Amino acid sequence: MAEYSFSPTGKRFQLPEPEDYKKEYKRLNKLVKEQRALSREIVVVMGLGFVGAVMAAVVADVVDKKRNPTKFVIGMQRPSSRSFWKTPLLNRGIPPVSSEDPEVAPMIHRCVKEKKTLTATYTYEALKLADVVVVDVQCDYLKESLGNVRNGRAEMEALEESLEILAANVSPEALILIETTVAPGTTEQVAYPIIKKGFRKRGIKSDPLLAHSYERVMPGRNYVSSIRDFWRVCSGVNEEATRRVVKFLKEVINTQKYPLTILDRPIESETAKIVENSFRAAILAFLDEWSLFAERNGVDLIKVIQAIKVRPTHSNIIFPGPGIGGYCLPKDGGLGLWAYQHIHGWEDEIFKITPLAIDINDTRALHVAQLTRDALRNMGRPMAAADILLLGASYREDVGDTRYSGSELIVRRLTEMGAELRVHDPYVLHWWEFEKQDEYPASSQSLKRFFRGQEKLKDLRVEQELKTALDGIDALIFAVRHKHYLNLDPEEVVRSAGGPIAVIDCFGILDDAKIRRYFELGCEVKGLGRGHMKRIKDQVRKRTED
Ligand SMILES: NC(=O)c1ccc[n+]([C@@H]2O[C@H](COP(=O)([O-])OP(=O)(O)OC[C@H]3O[C@@H](n4cnc5c(N)ncnc54)[C@H](O)[C@@H]3O)[C@@H](O)[C@H]2O)c1
Repeated sequence: MAEYSFSPTGKRFQLPEPEDYKKEYKRLNKLVKEQRALSREIVVVMGLGFVGAVMAAVVADVVDKKRNPTKFVIGMQRPSSRSFWKTPLLNRGIPPVSSEDPEVAPMIHRCVKEKKTLTATYTYEALKLADVVVVDVQCDYLKESLGNVRNGRAEMEALEESLEILAANVSPEALILIETTVAPGTTEQVAYPIIKKGFRKRGIKSDPLLAHSYERVMPGRNYVSSIRDFWRVCSGVNEEATRRVVKFLKEVINTQKYPLTILDRPIESETAKIVENSFRAAILAFLDEWSLFAERNGVDLIKVIQAIKVRPTHSNIIFPGPGIGGYCLPKDGGLGLWAYQHIHGWEDEIFKITPLAIDINDTRALHVAQLTRDALRNMGRPMAAADILLLGASYREDVGDTRYSGSELIVRRLTEMGAELRVHDPYVLHWWEFEKQDEYPASSQSLKRFFRGQEKLKDLRVEQELKTALDGIDALIFAVRHKHYLNLDPEEVVRSAGGPIAVIDCFGILDDAKIRRYFELGCEVKGLGRGHMKRIKDQVRKRTED
Protein backbone atom coordinates (compact mmCIF):
# COMPACT_ATOMS: atom_id res chain seq x y z
CA MET A 1 0.00 0.00 0.00
CA ALA A 2 1.27 3.45 -0.89
CA GLU A 3 2.38 5.60 2.05
CA TYR A 4 1.81 9.34 2.21
CA SER A 5 3.39 12.34 3.84
CA PHE A 6 1.27 15.44 4.56
CA SER A 7 2.55 19.01 4.50
CA PRO A 8 1.30 21.40 7.21
CA THR A 9 -1.22 22.81 4.71
CA GLY A 10 -2.60 19.32 4.17
CA LYS A 11 -0.99 18.61 0.76
CA ARG A 12 -0.52 14.88 0.26
CA PHE A 13 2.70 13.43 -1.19
CA GLN A 14 3.28 9.76 -1.90
CA LEU A 15 6.46 8.37 -0.40
CA PRO A 16 8.92 6.97 -2.96
CA GLU A 17 8.66 3.31 -3.93
CA PRO A 18 11.81 1.12 -4.18
CA GLU A 19 11.90 1.46 -7.98
CA ASP A 20 11.94 5.28 -7.75
CA TYR A 21 15.39 5.41 -6.16
CA LYS A 22 17.31 4.34 -9.25
CA LYS A 23 15.56 6.94 -11.39
CA GLU A 24 16.17 9.63 -8.79
CA TYR A 25 19.90 8.88 -8.58
CA LYS A 26 20.07 8.99 -12.38
CA ARG A 27 18.39 12.42 -12.33
CA LEU A 28 20.93 13.70 -9.79
CA ASN A 29 23.87 12.24 -11.69
CA LYS A 30 22.81 14.04 -14.84
CA LEU A 31 22.37 17.33 -13.00
CA VAL A 32 25.72 17.00 -11.26
CA LYS A 33 27.49 16.27 -14.54
CA GLU A 34 26.06 19.46 -16.04
CA GLN A 35 26.93 21.47 -12.95
CA ARG A 36 30.49 20.17 -12.78
CA ALA A 37 30.94 21.20 -16.40
CA LEU A 38 30.14 24.72 -15.14
CA SER A 39 32.89 24.31 -12.49
CA ARG A 40 30.41 24.38 -9.62
CA GLU A 41 31.12 22.71 -6.32
CA ILE A 42 28.52 20.10 -5.30
CA VAL A 43 27.19 20.61 -1.80
CA VAL A 44 24.79 18.16 -0.15
CA VAL A 45 22.84 19.52 2.81
CA MET A 46 21.60 16.65 4.94
CA GLY A 47 18.30 17.41 6.70
CA LEU A 48 15.86 20.00 5.33
CA GLY A 49 14.50 21.29 8.63
CA PHE A 50 14.43 24.85 9.98
CA VAL A 51 18.19 25.12 9.55
CA GLY A 52 18.99 22.93 6.53
CA ALA A 53 16.27 24.25 4.21
CA VAL A 54 17.45 27.86 4.44
CA MET A 55 21.17 27.03 4.71
CA ALA A 56 20.78 25.04 1.45
CA ALA A 57 19.31 28.13 -0.24
CA VAL A 58 22.01 30.44 1.15
CA VAL A 59 24.70 28.16 -0.33
CA ALA A 60 22.85 27.76 -3.64
CA ASP A 61 22.60 31.55 -3.94
CA VAL A 62 26.38 32.12 -3.79
CA VAL A 63 27.91 33.79 -6.85
CA ASP A 64 31.41 34.81 -7.86
CA LYS A 65 32.59 38.33 -8.79
CA LYS A 66 31.06 37.92 -12.24
CA ARG A 67 27.73 36.96 -10.60
CA ASN A 68 28.01 33.34 -11.77
CA PRO A 69 26.79 30.71 -9.29
CA THR A 70 29.66 28.71 -7.80
CA LYS A 71 27.75 25.99 -5.95
CA PHE A 72 25.14 23.41 -6.81
CA VAL A 73 23.19 22.25 -3.78
CA ILE A 74 21.31 19.03 -3.23
CA GLY A 75 19.11 19.19 -0.17
CA MET A 76 18.74 15.66 1.11
CA GLN A 77 15.79 14.86 3.34
CA ARG A 78 15.06 11.36 4.63
CA PRO A 79 11.75 10.09 3.25
CA SER A 80 9.92 9.63 6.57
CA SER A 81 6.14 10.07 6.50
CA ARG A 82 6.59 13.06 8.84
CA SER A 83 9.11 14.92 6.70
CA PHE A 84 9.12 13.61 3.12
CA TRP A 85 6.76 16.39 1.94
CA LYS A 86 9.63 18.89 2.33
CA THR A 87 11.42 17.36 -0.71
CA PRO A 88 8.69 17.72 -3.39
CA LEU A 89 7.67 21.09 -1.96
CA LEU A 90 11.19 22.48 -2.22
CA ASN A 91 11.47 21.12 -5.75
CA ARG A 92 8.46 23.27 -6.64
CA GLY A 93 10.41 26.27 -5.37
CA ILE A 94 8.33 26.54 -2.19
CA PRO A 95 10.03 26.83 1.23
CA PRO A 96 9.27 23.94 3.59
CA VAL A 97 9.41 26.40 6.52
CA SER A 98 7.20 29.38 7.22
CA SER A 99 8.64 32.67 8.43
CA GLU A 100 8.20 36.42 8.42
CA ASP A 101 11.44 36.95 6.52
CA PRO A 102 10.51 38.24 3.05
CA GLU A 103 13.86 36.94 1.72
CA VAL A 104 13.19 33.22 2.28
CA ALA A 105 10.53 32.44 -0.35
CA PRO A 106 12.04 34.43 -3.26
CA MET A 107 15.50 33.05 -2.52
CA ILE A 108 14.31 29.44 -2.63
CA HIS A 109 12.22 30.11 -5.73
CA ARG A 110 15.14 31.85 -7.46
CA CYS A 111 17.61 29.07 -6.71
CA VAL A 112 15.28 26.21 -7.66
CA LYS A 113 13.46 27.68 -10.63
CA GLU A 114 15.67 30.40 -12.14
CA LYS A 115 19.32 29.78 -11.27
CA LYS A 116 18.64 26.04 -10.99
CA THR A 117 21.34 25.71 -8.34
CA LEU A 118 19.15 23.92 -5.80
CA THR A 119 17.32 20.63 -5.88
CA ALA A 120 15.99 18.34 -3.18
CA THR A 121 16.14 14.59 -2.97
CA TYR A 122 15.30 11.63 -0.77
CA THR A 123 18.06 9.30 -1.88
CA TYR A 124 21.13 8.91 0.32
CA GLU A 125 23.12 8.11 -2.82
CA ALA A 126 23.25 11.88 -3.36
CA LEU A 127 26.11 11.82 -0.85
CA LYS A 128 28.29 9.99 -3.39
CA LEU A 129 28.22 13.11 -5.54
CA ALA A 130 29.22 15.61 -2.85
CA ASP A 131 32.34 17.77 -2.56
CA VAL A 132 30.97 19.11 0.70
CA VAL A 133 28.33 17.65 3.01
CA VAL A 134 26.63 19.94 5.52
CA VAL A 135 24.93 17.97 8.30
CA ASP A 136 21.80 19.72 9.60
CA VAL A 137 19.91 16.82 11.16
CA GLN A 138 18.54 17.03 14.67
CA CYS A 139 20.16 15.86 17.90
CA ASP A 140 17.60 15.88 20.71
CA TYR A 141 17.79 15.78 24.46
CA LEU A 142 15.02 13.68 25.99
CA LYS A 143 13.76 14.68 29.40
CA GLU A 144 12.20 11.95 31.48
CA SER A 145 10.48 14.27 33.93
CA LEU A 146 9.08 17.77 33.94
CA GLY A 147 11.39 20.34 35.51
CA ASN A 148 14.38 18.04 36.03
CA VAL A 149 16.80 18.12 33.14
CA ARG A 150 19.23 15.87 34.98
CA ASN A 151 16.76 13.06 34.47
CA GLY A 152 17.29 12.77 30.73
CA ARG A 153 19.67 11.84 27.94
CA ALA A 154 20.94 12.92 24.54
CA GLU A 155 19.00 11.31 21.72
CA MET A 156 21.66 10.76 19.10
CA GLU A 157 19.90 8.18 16.93
CA ALA A 158 19.13 10.42 13.94
CA LEU A 159 22.64 11.89 14.04
CA GLU A 160 24.41 8.54 14.42
CA GLU A 161 22.31 7.03 11.64
CA SER A 162 23.14 10.00 9.41
CA LEU A 163 26.84 9.57 10.14
CA GLU A 164 26.71 5.87 9.27
CA ILE A 165 24.95 6.65 6.00
CA LEU A 166 27.56 9.31 5.32
CA ALA A 167 30.42 6.93 6.01
CA ALA A 168 28.97 4.40 3.59
CA ASN A 169 28.52 6.85 0.74
CA VAL A 170 30.67 9.94 0.87
CA SER A 171 33.92 10.40 -1.05
CA PRO A 172 37.02 10.49 1.21
CA GLU A 173 37.92 13.87 -0.29
CA ALA A 174 34.62 15.44 0.71
CA LEU A 175 34.47 17.92 3.57
CA ILE A 176 31.92 16.82 6.19
CA LEU A 177 30.71 19.84 8.09
CA ILE A 178 28.55 19.13 11.15
CA GLU A 179 26.33 22.11 11.93
CA THR A 180 24.03 20.20 14.27
CA THR A 181 24.21 21.33 17.88
CA VAL A 182 25.82 18.34 19.55
CA ALA A 183 26.99 17.20 22.96
CA PRO A 184 30.55 18.63 23.25
CA GLY A 185 32.97 15.93 22.16
CA THR A 186 30.63 14.40 19.53
CA THR A 187 32.58 15.38 16.40
CA GLU A 188 35.84 13.82 17.61
CA GLN A 189 34.56 11.03 19.84
CA VAL A 190 31.36 9.90 18.11
CA ALA A 191 31.37 11.10 14.49
CA TYR A 192 35.06 10.56 13.74
CA PRO A 193 35.10 6.86 14.82
CA ILE A 194 31.84 6.10 12.99
CA ILE A 195 33.09 7.60 9.75
CA LYS A 196 36.58 6.15 10.11
CA LYS A 197 35.07 2.67 10.60
CA GLY A 198 32.79 3.14 7.59
CA PHE A 199 35.75 4.23 5.49
CA ARG A 200 37.79 1.24 6.60
CA LYS A 201 35.00 -1.10 5.49
CA ARG A 202 35.22 0.53 2.07
CA GLY A 203 39.02 0.13 2.03
CA ILE A 204 39.60 3.88 2.45
CA LYS A 205 42.71 4.60 4.51
CA SER A 206 42.62 8.39 4.69
CA ASP A 207 41.28 10.39 7.62
CA PRO A 208 37.78 11.85 7.24
CA LEU A 209 37.79 15.60 6.60
CA LEU A 210 35.47 16.37 9.45
CA ALA A 211 34.65 19.77 10.94
CA HIS A 212 32.16 21.50 13.21
CA SER A 213 30.61 24.94 12.87
CA TYR A 214 27.38 25.69 14.64
CA GLU A 215 24.39 27.61 13.37
CA ARG A 216 23.11 30.74 15.05
CA VAL A 217 20.08 30.92 12.82
CA MET A 218 16.96 32.66 14.11
CA PRO A 219 13.93 31.62 12.06
CA GLY A 220 12.08 34.96 12.25
CA ARG A 221 12.19 38.27 10.40
CA ASN A 222 15.95 37.98 9.75
CA TYR A 223 16.01 34.26 8.98
CA VAL A 224 18.34 34.44 5.96
CA SER A 225 20.71 37.06 7.30
CA SER A 226 21.03 35.22 10.61
CA ILE A 227 22.75 32.50 8.55
CA ARG A 228 24.53 34.45 5.83
CA ASP A 229 25.37 37.73 7.56
CA PHE A 230 26.41 36.57 10.97
CA TRP A 231 29.54 35.55 12.84
CA ARG A 232 30.62 31.91 12.71
CA VAL A 233 32.82 29.73 14.86
CA CYS A 234 34.46 26.65 13.36
CA SER A 235 37.08 23.98 13.84
CA GLY A 236 38.31 20.86 12.03
CA VAL A 237 39.60 17.51 13.30
CA ASN A 238 42.89 18.05 11.48
CA GLU A 239 44.72 20.76 9.55
CA GLU A 240 43.24 19.85 6.18
CA ALA A 241 39.69 19.71 7.58
CA THR A 242 40.21 23.13 9.18
CA ARG A 243 41.57 24.57 5.94
CA ARG A 244 38.59 23.20 4.00
CA VAL A 245 35.93 24.38 6.45
CA VAL A 246 37.44 27.88 6.57
CA LYS A 247 37.50 27.99 2.76
CA PHE A 248 33.88 26.82 2.51
CA LEU A 249 32.53 29.23 5.11
CA LYS A 250 34.43 32.14 3.58
CA GLU A 251 32.75 31.34 0.27
CA VAL A 252 29.19 31.08 1.59
CA ILE A 253 29.03 33.34 4.64
CA ASN A 254 29.64 37.10 4.68
CA THR A 255 32.90 36.66 6.62
CA GLN A 256 34.31 39.98 5.36
CA LYS A 257 31.83 41.81 7.54
CA TYR A 258 31.30 39.05 10.11
CA PRO A 259 34.73 37.52 10.70
CA LEU A 260 35.16 33.83 11.37
CA THR A 261 36.47 32.57 14.69
CA ILE A 262 38.63 29.47 14.21
CA LEU A 263 39.10 27.34 17.31
CA ASP A 264 41.75 24.66 17.84
CA ARG A 265 39.46 21.66 18.22
CA PRO A 266 35.84 20.81 17.39
CA ILE A 267 35.04 20.29 21.08
CA GLU A 268 35.71 24.00 21.54
CA SER A 269 33.32 24.98 18.77
CA GLU A 270 30.74 22.53 20.18
CA THR A 271 31.21 23.90 23.70
CA ALA A 272 30.90 27.49 22.45
CA LYS A 273 27.42 26.70 21.13
CA ILE A 274 26.29 25.06 24.36
CA VAL A 275 27.71 27.82 26.57
CA GLU A 276 26.21 30.51 24.34
CA ASN A 277 22.73 29.04 24.69
CA SER A 278 23.11 28.12 28.37
CA PHE A 279 24.08 31.73 29.06
CA ARG A 280 20.91 32.89 27.38
CA ALA A 281 18.80 30.31 29.24
CA ALA A 282 20.40 31.37 32.54
CA ILE A 283 19.74 35.10 32.16
CA LEU A 284 16.12 34.34 31.29
CA ALA A 285 15.67 31.95 34.22
CA PHE A 286 17.24 34.46 36.58
CA LEU A 287 14.33 36.83 36.01
CA ASP A 288 11.70 34.23 36.95
CA GLU A 289 12.15 34.87 40.66
CA TRP A 290 12.09 38.64 40.10
CA SER A 291 8.96 38.18 38.06
CA LEU A 292 7.24 36.62 41.11
CA PHE A 293 8.72 39.32 43.35
CA ALA A 294 7.24 41.96 41.03
CA GLU A 295 3.79 40.34 40.98
CA ARG A 296 3.64 40.16 44.76
CA ASN A 297 4.96 43.63 45.53
CA GLY A 298 3.28 46.00 43.10
CA VAL A 299 6.19 46.20 40.63
CA ASP A 300 5.93 46.21 36.83
CA LEU A 301 8.92 44.13 35.76
CA ILE A 302 8.52 45.29 32.17
CA LYS A 303 9.26 48.90 33.16
CA VAL A 304 12.06 47.80 35.49
CA ILE A 305 13.73 45.96 32.61
CA GLN A 306 13.33 48.93 30.27
CA ALA A 307 14.94 51.12 32.93
CA ILE A 308 17.92 48.76 33.30
CA LYS A 309 18.35 48.20 29.56
CA VAL A 310 19.41 51.79 28.90
CA ARG A 311 22.68 50.97 30.62
CA PRO A 312 24.86 49.63 27.77
CA THR A 313 26.47 46.93 29.94
CA HIS A 314 23.00 45.50 30.69
CA SER A 315 21.35 45.94 27.30
CA ASN A 316 20.74 42.23 26.76
CA ILE A 317 18.50 41.78 29.81
CA ILE A 318 15.21 40.38 28.53
CA PHE A 319 11.79 39.70 29.96
CA PRO A 320 11.06 35.96 29.98
CA GLY A 321 7.67 35.14 28.50
CA PRO A 322 5.64 32.12 29.55
CA GLY A 323 8.51 29.66 29.46
CA ILE A 324 11.54 29.58 27.23
CA GLY A 325 10.83 27.42 24.24
CA GLY A 326 12.24 26.84 20.81
CA TYR A 327 14.26 23.86 19.78
CA CYS A 328 17.56 25.00 21.27
CA LEU A 329 17.45 26.71 24.66
CA PRO A 330 15.50 23.97 26.49
CA LYS A 331 17.88 21.23 25.41
CA ASP A 332 21.37 22.55 24.74
CA GLY A 333 22.53 22.76 28.37
CA GLY A 334 21.28 19.17 28.81
CA LEU A 335 23.59 18.05 25.99
CA GLY A 336 26.48 19.57 27.96
CA LEU A 337 25.64 17.80 31.24
CA TRP A 338 25.13 14.54 29.41
CA ALA A 339 28.44 14.84 27.52
CA TYR A 340 30.39 15.44 30.75
CA GLN A 341 29.37 12.02 32.01
CA HIS A 342 28.63 9.93 28.95
CA ILE A 343 31.25 11.12 26.48
CA HIS A 344 34.00 12.25 28.85
CA GLY A 345 33.43 9.79 31.71
CA TRP A 346 33.24 12.14 34.71
CA GLU A 347 31.05 11.15 37.65
CA ASP A 348 30.87 14.27 39.82
CA GLU A 349 28.18 16.93 39.55
CA ILE A 350 29.85 20.18 38.52
CA PHE A 351 26.78 21.75 36.95
CA LYS A 352 24.51 23.86 39.14
CA ILE A 353 23.33 26.92 37.23
CA THR A 354 22.87 25.35 33.79
CA PRO A 355 20.40 22.63 34.88
CA LEU A 356 18.63 24.91 37.35
CA ALA A 357 18.05 27.50 34.61
CA ILE A 358 16.55 24.91 32.26
CA ASP A 359 14.32 23.52 35.03
CA ILE A 360 13.02 27.01 35.89
CA ASN A 361 12.39 27.84 32.24
CA ASP A 362 10.68 24.49 31.62
CA THR A 363 8.09 25.08 34.33
CA ARG A 364 7.58 28.85 34.22
CA ALA A 365 4.47 28.46 32.02
CA LEU A 366 2.63 26.61 34.79
CA HIS A 367 2.33 29.88 36.69
CA VAL A 368 0.17 31.25 33.88
CA ALA A 369 -2.47 28.67 34.79
CA GLN A 370 -2.39 29.93 38.39
CA LEU A 371 -2.88 33.53 37.25
CA THR A 372 -5.79 32.46 35.03
CA ARG A 373 -7.34 30.53 37.91
CA ASP A 374 -7.04 33.58 40.21
CA ALA A 375 -8.40 36.03 37.64
CA LEU A 376 -11.43 33.82 36.99
CA ARG A 377 -11.94 33.34 40.71
CA ASN A 378 -11.93 37.12 41.24
CA MET A 379 -14.75 37.28 38.71
CA GLY A 380 -16.65 34.56 40.54
CA ARG A 381 -16.21 32.09 37.71
CA PRO A 382 -15.01 28.52 38.15
CA MET A 383 -12.10 27.19 36.12
CA ALA A 384 -14.05 24.02 35.37
CA ALA A 385 -15.52 24.22 31.87
CA ALA A 386 -14.35 27.84 31.46
CA ASP A 387 -13.74 28.70 27.80
CA ILE A 388 -10.23 30.05 27.46
CA LEU A 389 -8.60 31.43 24.33
CA LEU A 390 -4.83 31.34 24.07
CA LEU A 391 -3.26 33.81 21.66
CA GLY A 392 -0.06 32.36 20.24
CA ALA A 393 1.12 28.75 19.97
CA SER A 394 4.67 29.30 18.77
CA TYR A 395 7.66 29.77 21.01
CA ARG A 396 8.39 33.34 19.98
CA GLU A 397 6.92 36.21 18.06
CA ASP A 398 6.29 36.13 14.34
CA VAL A 399 7.41 32.55 13.69
CA GLY A 400 5.44 29.35 13.16
CA ASP A 401 7.71 27.10 15.23
CA THR A 402 5.82 25.51 18.15
CA ARG A 403 8.63 23.36 19.50
CA TYR A 404 8.72 23.37 23.31
CA SER A 405 6.64 26.54 23.43
CA GLY A 406 5.45 27.72 26.84
CA SER A 407 1.98 27.81 25.28
CA GLU A 408 1.87 24.01 25.11
CA LEU A 409 2.33 23.77 28.86
CA ILE A 410 -0.33 26.43 29.49
CA VAL A 411 -2.84 24.45 27.42
CA ARG A 412 -1.95 21.18 29.12
CA ARG A 413 -2.15 22.52 32.68
CA LEU A 414 -5.41 24.43 32.12
CA THR A 415 -6.96 21.37 30.47
CA GLU A 416 -5.90 19.29 33.44
CA MET A 417 -7.64 21.87 35.66
CA GLY A 418 -10.89 21.38 33.73
CA ALA A 419 -10.90 24.34 31.31
CA GLU A 420 -11.90 24.18 27.64
CA LEU A 421 -9.10 25.56 25.49
CA ARG A 422 -9.16 27.35 22.15
CA VAL A 423 -6.07 28.60 20.41
CA HIS A 424 -5.30 31.18 17.75
CA ASP A 425 -2.00 31.69 15.95
CA PRO A 426 -1.64 33.36 12.55
CA TYR A 427 1.58 31.46 11.82
CA VAL A 428 0.50 27.96 12.85
CA LEU A 429 -1.95 25.90 10.83
CA HIS A 430 -1.60 22.67 12.77
CA TRP A 431 -0.33 22.34 16.30
CA TRP A 432 1.13 18.88 15.91
CA GLU A 433 2.13 18.68 19.59
CA PHE A 434 -1.60 18.20 20.22
CA GLU A 435 -3.10 16.91 16.97
CA LYS A 436 -0.52 14.12 16.84
CA GLN A 437 0.29 13.91 20.50
CA ASP A 438 0.65 10.12 20.42
CA GLU A 439 3.51 10.22 17.95
CA TYR A 440 4.90 13.77 18.06
CA PRO A 441 7.68 14.73 18.80
CA ALA A 442 8.15 10.93 19.06
CA SER A 443 6.06 8.09 20.39
CA SER A 444 5.74 8.37 24.20
CA GLN A 445 7.71 11.64 24.22
CA SER A 446 4.76 14.02 24.28
CA LEU A 447 4.54 16.35 27.28
CA LYS A 448 1.04 14.95 27.70
CA ARG A 449 2.56 12.22 29.84
CA PHE A 450 3.12 14.72 32.65
CA PHE A 451 -0.54 15.79 32.87
CA ARG A 452 -3.90 14.08 33.33
CA GLY A 453 -7.01 14.36 31.17
CA GLN A 454 -5.16 15.15 27.94
CA GLU A 455 -6.87 12.82 25.46
CA LYS A 456 -9.35 15.39 24.16
CA LEU A 457 -6.50 17.70 23.13
CA LYS A 458 -6.05 15.59 20.00
CA ASP A 459 -9.04 17.52 18.72
CA LEU A 460 -7.57 20.94 19.43
CA ARG A 461 -7.48 22.92 16.18
CA VAL A 462 -5.81 26.26 15.62
CA GLU A 463 -8.54 28.86 15.01
CA GLN A 464 -7.87 31.01 11.97
CA GLU A 465 -10.50 33.71 12.63
CA LEU A 466 -9.74 35.75 15.72
CA LYS A 467 -13.21 37.28 16.02
CA THR A 468 -14.89 33.85 16.00
CA ALA A 469 -12.33 32.49 18.44
CA LEU A 470 -13.16 35.27 20.91
CA ASP A 471 -16.89 34.57 20.86
CA GLY A 472 -18.21 33.58 24.29
CA ILE A 473 -14.86 33.16 26.06
CA ASP A 474 -14.35 33.53 29.81
CA ALA A 475 -10.61 34.21 29.66
CA LEU A 476 -8.04 35.44 27.15
CA ILE A 477 -4.34 34.68 27.44
CA PHE A 478 -1.83 36.79 25.53
CA ALA A 479 1.00 34.27 25.26
CA VAL A 480 3.15 35.40 22.31
CA ARG A 481 4.09 38.87 21.05
CA HIS A 482 2.89 38.25 17.47
CA LYS A 483 2.42 41.62 15.79
CA HIS A 484 -1.28 40.79 15.29
CA TYR A 485 -1.87 40.94 19.04
CA LEU A 486 0.00 44.09 19.98
CA ASN A 487 -2.74 46.53 19.06
CA LEU A 488 -5.92 44.63 19.83
CA ASP A 489 -8.53 47.06 21.01
CA PRO A 490 -9.99 46.20 24.46
CA GLU A 491 -13.49 47.39 23.44
CA GLU A 492 -13.51 45.11 20.40
CA VAL A 493 -12.17 42.18 22.37
CA VAL A 494 -14.82 42.52 25.06
CA ARG A 495 -17.53 43.06 22.46
CA SER A 496 -16.48 39.94 20.53
CA ALA A 497 -16.32 37.94 23.76
CA GLY A 498 -19.83 39.04 24.63
CA GLY A 499 -18.94 40.66 27.98
CA PRO A 500 -16.19 41.12 30.57
CA ILE A 501 -13.50 38.45 30.67
CA ALA A 502 -10.32 37.53 32.52
CA VAL A 503 -7.25 38.78 30.62
CA ILE A 504 -3.79 37.34 31.25
CA ASP A 505 -0.74 39.07 29.79
CA CYS A 506 2.28 36.77 29.68
CA PHE A 507 4.65 38.97 27.71
CA GLY A 508 4.21 42.66 28.53
CA ILE A 509 1.85 43.00 25.58
CA LEU A 510 -0.60 45.34 27.30
CA ASP A 511 0.42 48.90 28.08
CA ASP A 512 -1.07 50.69 31.08
CA ALA A 513 -3.76 52.42 29.02
CA LYS A 514 -5.04 49.06 27.74
CA ILE A 515 -4.85 47.47 31.17
CA ARG A 516 -6.89 50.39 32.57
CA ARG A 517 -9.43 50.07 29.74
CA TYR A 518 -9.92 46.34 30.38
CA PHE A 519 -10.58 47.10 34.06
CA GLU A 520 -13.01 49.86 33.11
CA LEU A 521 -14.84 47.37 30.91
CA GLY A 522 -15.31 45.12 33.94
CA CYS A 523 -12.52 42.66 33.11
CA GLU A 524 -10.03 41.16 35.51
CA VAL A 525 -6.41 41.54 34.34
CA LYS A 526 -3.29 39.74 35.51
CA GLY A 527 0.16 39.37 34.03
CA LEU A 528 3.47 37.63 34.52
CA GLY A 529 5.76 40.02 36.40
CA ARG A 530 3.17 42.81 36.40
CA GLY A 531 2.38 43.57 40.02
CA HIS A 532 1.31 47.13 39.22
CA MET A 533 -1.92 45.89 37.62
CA LYS A 534 -3.55 45.72 41.04
CA ARG A 535 -2.76 49.43 41.52
CA ILE A 536 -4.46 50.30 38.22
CA LYS A 537 -7.43 48.13 39.21
CA ASP A 538 -7.79 49.93 42.55
CA GLN A 539 -7.67 53.33 40.84
CA VAL A 540 -10.36 52.31 38.34
CA ARG A 541 -12.62 50.76 40.99
CA LYS A 542 -12.17 53.80 43.25
CA ARG A 543 -13.09 56.14 40.43
CA THR A 544 -16.24 54.10 39.65
CA GLU A 545 -17.23 54.15 43.34
CA ASP A 546 -16.73 57.95 43.52
N1 LIG B 1 15.89 25.75 14.70
C1 LIG B 1 16.76 26.64 15.13
O1 LIG B 1 16.40 27.79 15.35
C2 LIG B 1 18.22 26.29 15.34
C3 LIG B 1 19.15 27.31 15.60
C4 LIG B 1 20.49 27.00 15.77
C5 LIG B 1 20.88 25.67 15.73
N2 LIG B 1 19.96 24.68 15.50
C6 LIG B 1 20.44 23.30 15.48
O2 LIG B 1 20.45 22.82 14.14
C7 LIG B 1 20.14 21.44 14.11
C8 LIG B 1 18.94 21.20 13.19
O3 LIG B 1 17.82 21.89 13.73
P1 LIG B 1 16.46 22.07 12.94
O4 LIG B 1 15.67 23.06 13.70
O5 LIG B 1 16.73 22.32 11.49
O6 LIG B 1 15.84 20.59 13.11
P2 LIG B 1 14.65 19.92 12.28
O7 LIG B 1 14.14 18.79 13.09
O8 LIG B 1 13.70 21.00 11.80
O9 LIG B 1 15.36 19.35 10.99
C9 LIG B 1 16.13 18.22 10.93
C10 LIG B 1 15.79 17.53 9.62
O10 LIG B 1 16.73 16.49 9.41
C11 LIG B 1 16.03 15.40 8.83
N3 LIG B 1 16.83 14.19 8.97
C12 LIG B 1 17.05 13.43 10.07
N4 LIG B 1 17.85 12.39 9.79
C13 LIG B 1 18.16 12.50 8.46
C14 LIG B 1 18.94 11.73 7.56
N5 LIG B 1 19.57 10.63 7.95
N6 LIG B 1 19.05 12.15 6.28
C15 LIG B 1 18.41 13.26 5.86
N7 LIG B 1 17.63 14.02 6.65
C16 LIG B 1 17.51 13.64 7.95
C17 LIG B 1 14.73 15.39 9.59
O11 LIG B 1 13.74 14.62 8.95
C18 LIG B 1 14.40 16.89 9.63
O12 LIG B 1 13.70 17.31 8.47
C19 LIG B 1 19.87 21.05 15.56
O13 LIG B 1 21.02 20.52 16.11
C20 LIG B 1 19.53 22.35 16.23
O14 LIG B 1 19.82 22.32 17.60
C21 LIG B 1 18.65 24.96 15.30
